[in-house]
Amino acid sequence: MNAAKKNVVLGVTGSIAAHRAIDLASQLTKANFDVHVVMTADALRFVTSLPFKVLSRHPVVTNLYDEEEGWKPAHITLADAANLLLIAPATANCLAKLAHGIADDALSCIALALNPDARILMAPAMNGKMWQHPATQQNVETLRSRGVEFIGPDTGLLSCGYEGLGRLEPIEKIARRVCELLA
Ligand SMILES: Cc1cc2nc3c(=O)[nH]c(=O)nc-3n(C[C@H](O)[C@H](O)[C@H](O)COP(=O)(O)O)c2cc1C
Repeated sequence: MNAAKKNVVLGVTGSIAAHRAIDLASQLTKANFDVHVVMTADALRFVTSLPFKVLSRHPVVTNLYDEEEGWKPAHITLADAANLLLIAPATANCLAKLAHGIADDALSCIALALNPDARILMAPAMNGKMWQHPATQQNVETLRSRGVEFIGPDTGLLSCGYEGLGRLEPIEKIARRVCELLA
């Protein structure tokens, strides 16, 4: 952790939009944030951790049981240090887990163990019917009522072939919002 910089924990989940988070990690690092990437097991089905490690200049947490140099588990170290937890892309599954306090992987444990001063920004990406499903919308409302901020989703052509609401918000807009929140 670099005490001179603001710490952004970037959670990447299992969406087809996961590859766009690589550029996001790069933009946030260039904007002088200390970026620590945490990937779910499903995110690793879409992209490897390598570009995130190189562009963020830090090891990537991909497992709750990842090796750590110190005695503290990696997820607690990150939860303690984070100024902002950014989850981009955020799957419907991730929204549901966070809304219900499920803590079965590194990212969901970080979300629960987060320092109360830290902000949470989520950028959902999913099929339009998944986004509009009452279960997802209720989870979004639950998270909003706890202070979680949402950016997007955007409308347009979705990777599932449908047109509509569900695209990941443009990376530049997400990076800009992170800069505003941490200014
Ligand atoms: C090709 C493909 C694309 C997917 N894209 C999305 C997506 O954009 N958004 C979403 O919520 N789920 C998507 N899913 C389903 C998630 O990967 C699945 O719900 C998974 O359990 C999410 O795990 P995670 O939230 O732990 O990363 C996709 C699945 C496949 C096979």
